[in-house]
Amino acid sequence: MKQTFAKVLSNREVMPGVYLMWLKSPEIALKSLPGQFLMVACGEETVLRRPISVHNVEGDKLALLFMVVGKGTEWLSHLQIGDSLDILGPLGNGFMTSAEDKNILLIAGGIGVAPLRFLMDKVKSSCKQVTLLLGAAAAEKLYPKELLPPEVNLVVATEDGSIGHKGLVTEFIPNFVIAADRVFVCGPMPMLRYMAEHQRDLKLTNKPVYFSLEMRMACGLGVCYGCTIRTKSGLKQVCKDGPVFPFNDIILDEMTRL
Ligand code: FES
Repeated sequence: MKQTFAKVLSNREVMPGVYLMWLKSPEIALKSLPGQFLMVACGEETVLRRPISVHNVEGDKLALLFMVVGKGTEWLSHLQIGDSLDILGPLGNGFMTSAEDKNILLIAGGIGVAPLRFLMDKVKSSCKQVTLLLGAAAAEKLYPKELLPPEVNLVVATEDGSIGHKGLVTEFIPNFVIAADRVFVCGPMPMLRYMAEHQRDLKLTNKPVYFSLEMRMACGLGVCYGCTIRTKSGLKQVCKDGPVFPFNDIILDEMTRL
């Protein structure tokens, strides 16, 4: 883990209010694993760093995908090419993959695609099939297809039916989960709740399923204990023991406070 100043290589809005920023940071890019995150200093007005997933890595460059939700991310959205960004990482455990995996199922709700994009690049050459179930409220809130690797089998659902299937992306899980060796998920709380409450109908019970949790973090380093949650295997710190947890380990009620 390193604290460094990374140069901004690009920063553009790829969906309304969602920015894709590429940074040059050899120290952190070369050490990052899919599912890990950075603590990002967001200007002088925000005291605490913001946890942001490593969205992708290419050589000595890394990408962040973030939604503008407050002062910190608003500040980030205004950064220009050549600016410096104070980042700390990589942090967290990352996704647990296996060299044996041949068929991977990824499920992303909205900006939940952020930590999964890097994983796609990592597994696409060793897996026969990588399927992404990508859901959003409407077409304009959907992660752009051209930013995905062409090898990925993409299934799109929007709540208003403006593109892809009309409905929730979770409805498609039973069609793909049987063939999957491993399932990785990141999405909003209603998605986690739906999956937990319909685990049996969705045929998730006998699969290795991993969920990347998003929560506010004060330190991101396992020091403040502010991110501690109860899991079925005891107390865990999301920043240090996570943010990726086995789905079966998550206690749904505990998640409502995230
Ligand atoms: Fe401080 Fe996790 S954010 S211990």
